[in-house]
Amino acid sequence: MRLRAVVEEVRGCGDAALLRVGAPEIAASAAPGQFVHIICGEDSPRVLRRPYSVFSVEGGTLGILLKVTGAGSRWLACRRPGDPLDILGPLGRGYASAAAGEEVALVAGGTGIAPLHFLAVELRREGVGCRLFWGMESASDFGHLPHRLGDLADTRLATMDGTLGAAGTVLDLLGDSGLDGVARAYACGPSAMLKPLHRLCEEAGIPLQVSVEERMACGVGACQGCAVPVVDDPPGYRMACRDGPVFPSVELDWERIE
Ligand SMILES: Cc1cc2nc3c(=O)[nH]c(=O)nc-3n(C[C@H](O)[C@H](O)[C@H](O)COP(=O)(O)OP(=O)(O)OC[C@H]3O[C@@H](n4cnc5c(N)ncnc54)[C@H](O)[C@@H]3O)c2cc1C
Ligand code: FES
Repeated sequence: MRLRAVVEEVRGCGDAALLRVGAPEIAASAAPGQFVHIICGEDSPRVLRRPYSVFSVEGGTLGILLKVTGAGSRWLACRRPGDPLDILGPLGRGYASAAAGEEVALVAGGTGIAPLHFLAVELRREGVGCRLFWGMESASDFGHLPHRLGDLADTRLATMDGTLGAAGTVLDLLGDSGLDGVARAYACGPSAMLKPLHRLCEEAGIPLQVSVEERMACGVGACQGCAVPVVDDPPGYRMACRDGPVFPSVELDWERIE
């Protein structure tokens, strides 16, 4: 669905920003792990839309957590209340839920927290116990957000520079016992994090769903710009925008993923 949505609030959040966007039709049907595709600017290099996970849904308002990494995200972070936004969504396939009473692990790298935050809200509502592991570069990356997650999940943090939580990666944080007793795991982050996590979960016999961070163009399965290698006979591809971005990790061909 293509919408002319309206920015309601922009909150600076460390090196990131949290946008609240009035988009009732998208909010009504968005599920955790799905994304929206936003036109980020008026000039030619940015006419391609940029994909952003849904961070939250409150009534008719979508939350979008964004890290400034280039011209498009900078443009988005500079929006002001009342500004219009051209948004397509909700797009893609999200995470499959868990059963009430189960304990699950959510593993996020950097902005990978965005879809997992929405997922944690929904799982908590469904009576699922969440253990959230979140790794980032530094305490300043996301302002106060890391301190606000305690109500949502049993939250454990890691920073590469040791300024918040444990020093090291989110996988260091998981260690040997982080997945003990969990029925399933959910992750979003760079493939350097997802690959070893896939191996860890496979060895532990824990089903893992991952959201992959592919670069996207059309966002709807038409351009084949976001092909992800999958285990198939013969080896094939799926489109992250249409068939994902969430996949059961056993379906992906990790040997062919950079
Ligand atoms: C399904 C999906 C959900 C996403 N959700 C979020 C989110 O919730 N919050 C968030 O901050 N970012 C998210 N991203 C990444 C976000 O789309 C990119 O950061 C954004 O497109 C960069 O645009 P830009 O014009 O600012 O930067 P560009 O100038 O286009 O690129 C700047 C840098 O960002 C990297 N980059 C560009 N596109 C992507 C991409 N698709 N995935 C990963 N890295 C990219 C480039 O390699 C480069 O290093 C998501 C990406 C995908 C595919
Ligand atoms: S971005 Fe065009 S097919 Fe996925």
